[in-house]
Amino acid sequence: VTKNGYSLAWVTLSDKGAAGKREDKSGPLIAKLVSEKLDLAFVQGFIIPDDPRQLKGLLADLALVQRFDLILTTGGTGVGPRDITPEATLSLIEKRLPGYERAMTEASLSKTPHGAISRAIAGTLSETLIVNMPGSPKAVAECLEPLLPTLKHTLEKLQ
Ligand code: MTE
Repeated sequence: VTKNGYSLAWVTLSDKGAAGKREDKSGPLIAKLVSEKLDLAFVQGFIIPDDPRQLKGLLADLALVQRFDLILTTGGTGVGPRDITPEATLSLIEKRLPGYERAMTEASLSKTPHGAISRAIAGTLSETLIVNMPGSPKAVAECLEPLLPTLKHTLEKLQ
């Protein structure tokens, strides 16, 4: 965090997106929705394939070296053979935030039974908050909604 605000990294997990075969709407949407609620000094976005080593390397670098305040991932939370986001995230976080996970699941189930399919994980690594979200822009908006009111307080407590 700087005097101008927080740093946000969004990470889109998508084989097609990383290959340039699919426009990514969810990453930019994350930046827009979070910026309406938090003072952001810096935002950076990444699109990577559904590859656990790449994701772990990126998350570790963003949290431990670059020291981003907040990392929001989108995609790869389901049960497809290439969906590895939750496992990669779980292997790195130090403090899990089950309340964040429940808030997302509850909000999702109030919109669609398919909310049960997302295995999104949330937690902290050093002084960085990491939250997984499903891949579609609709799901991103629905999952962020219950979290936005508590983001600032969570980030303050992390320092
Ligand atoms: N959650 C919300 N709030 N809204 C949605 O439309 N879609 C679901 C689920 N969670 C959805 C949702 C669907 S259809 C799937 S397959 C899972 O998220 C996993 O999505 P992912 O693989 O893109 O991460």
